[in-house]
Amino acid sequence: MCSIIGYRGKGAAAPVIVSGLKRMEYRGYDSVGVATESGKKINLKKGIGRVAEVNSSAGLDALPGTTGIGHTRWATHGKVTRANAHPHSSNSGSIAIVHNGIIENFEELKSSLSAQGYTFESETDTEVIANLLQKNHDATGSVKEAVVKTVSEIEGHYAFVAMFEDGQLAAARFHEPLILGIGQDDLFLSSDVLGFIEYTDDAVYMKDGSFAMLEDGKFQIFDFDGTDTSYEVTKVSKEFGDAYKGDYAHFTLKEIYEQPETVMRAGEKTTDAIKTAALLIRNTKSIYVTGSGTSYNAALLAKQILSRYAKIKVEPIISSELPFSPDIIEDDSVFVAMSQSGESADVLEAVRIAKQAGCKIISIVNLTSSSLARESDIVIGMNCGPEIGVAATKSFTAQLAVLYKLAEQLGGQTGTDFGGISESMLEMLENPTTIQQIAGKLRNVSDIYVLGRGIHYPIAIEAALKLKELTYIHAEGIAGGELKHGPLALMDSGVYVIIINPDDTTYSDTLTSAREIKTRGAKIIGISNVKSDVYDYWIEIPSTGEESYPILEIVPVQLLSYYAALEKDTDPDYPRNLAKSVTVK
Ligand code: M6R
Repeated sequence: MCSIIGYRGKGAAAPVIVSGLKRMEYRGYDSVGVATESGKKINLKKGIGRVAEVNSSAGLDALPGTTGIGHTRWATHGKVTRANAHPHSSNSGSIAIVHNGIIENFEELKSSLSAQGYTFESETDTEVIANLLQKNHDATGSVKEAVVKTVSEIEGHYAFVAMFEDGQLAAARFHEPLILGIGQDDLFLSSDVLGFIEYTDDAVYMKDGSFAMLEDGKFQIFDFDGTDTSYEVTKVSKEFGDAYKGDYAHFTLKEIYEQPETVMRAGEKTTDAIKTAALLIRNTKSIYVTGSGTSYNAALLAKQILSRYAKIKVEPIISSELPFSPDIIEDDSVFVAMSQSGESADVLEAVRIAKQAGCKIISIVNLTSSSLARESDIVIGMNCGPEIGVAATKSFTAQLAVLYKLAEQLGGQTGTDFGGISESMLEMLENPTTIQQIAGKLRNVSDIYVLGRGIHYPIAIEAALKLKELTYIHAEGIAGGELKHGPLALMDSGVYVIIINPDDTTYSDTLTSAREIKTRGAKIIGISNVKSDVYDYWIEIPSTGEESYPILEIVPVQLLSYYAALEKDTDPDYPRNLAKSVTVK
């Protein structure tokens, strides 16, 4: 995913845009660019690399003018090259555009424009929008009519901001996020409130199928057919005020260390939303839980937690798989969507499919102003504050806290004590020395397996996801009992295996698996409250009730992945090829 930003105000545009892009860099970070308007002329600079690098070599923030647009890219159409970086200009140079999303009919449009004499410098679908806008503007002489015509011709999911050489900004949204920020003397357009939170907390979440036009301190919002549309101004500061890494070296580390607090916050209250959700779930035959990546791993845990404590059966579904098996969904069921961002395209699509089947939608979401929240009948907030690191950490433990809360509201006795969990987390985080030492051993390792049983199996899968994202080491979660059905063949002296093994009903079987693996020469890292001679390295977790272990045992693996990333000289906040919220399919 990319981040897009637009600014029109009284101050210099470029520095505002560059600082907004730095805060939104988590959305995509392979190339960056800025364009400004001054004296009815468009100035444009862009390059490959992170915002700070390109800014220091190209001087993005020195571009003149009080109106501008900017972009950080996560490549979809075309390789990571300067030519493919945004902004893109139309052939006449009179329009520059930044875009997030995918134009599905871009090849068709491109051939038609080429036949009319338009030329293209990049491989992107974005340049097609720039030239279409130019064509429609030349034909109508009106920015508004040019946008209405252009959005009727393009298909796909997109948000774009176009800057015209007279300094007008036009921005359209269709299934990709776009927010308008309203400052004292300035207006902002951005994929994320982080783009302008430094300057204002008044925002308009633009509706799908709408576009905004910005001119001299005023704006108007229209539906795609050009009629004026209503909008609501929302305050956003509370939710996002804390998106800074403070004294921590990385956002990822800060977010790992925030968990003693965020898990308490997510689990402390039985909100009205949890009560209504529980009622709905109780009175429904079929319940599905969906998500992508880490949020899907939380859905796997939803199955375990709700069945164990509340005797409620739920079916986890990988969001991106549902379009290929929509018949899984029984009509008029309950569909629970889990998502940190609330903007994952796969999750939103799964929700649309469920809605078509007449399901009620419950979302468990961190950004309660997101598209997912707006599509839901009931919204349960995770309340864990902005998560900037691409690897999900505190949002995962917050998801688990909410699931335990839900199980309790459904009549389950989970016995979870969030105060106790928080203290145990603090205890583990206080002294990371053992974990740092183990991380040092992983520098040249090429395969890590993580083994767990029962409720610890989804944790093993999530642990493997953290390791692969942050360290680029191949990692795989294994269900303990499956070891002899295949994975044992992979065990040898080059392999490290993390054994998730707290002292509960899975303990002795998992210890046996550890012994079987050790016999084959692999190195064993045990995560347990009980020491054993089978572990080459032991990461101790505090002894608590068994209901607390899943939330606790993921924390050492998050830290291990973080420190191993540092050992391997990879950037833990911005893993290669990934982006924080995957808003394209
Ligand atoms: O915002 P979401 O929870 O919908 O995001 C889902 C996944 O893209 C996300 O969890 C991803 O897998 C993380 N990078 C994992 O750490």
